[in-house]
Amino acid sequence: MAVHILEHPLIQHKLTLLRDSATGSKDFRELVQEVATLMAYEATRDLPLEDQEVSTPLQKTTGRAIVGKKLAIVPILRAGLGMVQGIERLIPAARVGHIGIYRDETTLRPVEYFCKLPVDLAERDILLLDPMLATGGSAVAAIHFLIRRGARPESIKFLCLVSCPQGVQALQQAYPEVEIFTAAVDEALNSRGYILPGLGDAGDRIFGTM
Ligand code: PRP
Ligand code: URA
Repeated sequence: MAVHILEHPLIQHKLTLLRDSATGSKDFRELVQEVATLMAYEATRDLPLEDQEVSTPLQKTTGRAIVGKKLAIVPILRAGLGMVQGIERLIPAARVGHIGIYRDETTLRPVEYFCKLPVDLAERDILLLDPMLATGGSAVAAIHFLIRRGARPESIKFLCLVSCPQGVQALQQAYPEVEIFTAAVDEALNSRGYILPGLGDAGDRIFGTM
């Protein structure tokens, strides 16, 4: 399935600010929200529309409105939380689920510790959020959770700020139906599983825990 690299100038400009090690937590948090909003705008381009009658102050007309589509926003804790508000701003009616996963620092394998999801996942389109797609282990584990709770793989879109070839390949191999939206596919992973050039540890920079 497709990998969408979001080349919009606003996204690319803000991503450069996010990469900058001189950007402090407050600005970093705000920028993550802003980029998430812009990414959600791109990722929802295919939402179906239907005609809807509306009365302007002057006359009746036919507008277009999103067909009663159910959406869920699911951040991967903790760093994915940083993207939620930016998307809720655009889609306030969406339900929000949470999946808690962290990477074991030695093995780089995902460790799951929390999962709370809307009960009717099978009926929802899902925006799965995590700023970083590195080895792909966390994203693959999160999608596994979603599917076990009834989600359809083709209804899941994965939104990340920065990815790398290894993570993209791992995700595509495990779940080819899941579309990936990313602001950048970076060059490589270092020996500790960090994306190069990347932006560092997204969770630590969002929450100021460096
Ligand atoms: C980071 C990031 C992803 C994961 C990506 O989370 O937010 O969830 O690593 O790496 P992967 O693709 O190799 O799995 P981290 O484990 O640092 O947890 P945190 O969000 O709690 O900081
Ligand atoms: N997680 C991060 O936060 N950053 C990386 O570069 C890789 C995984």
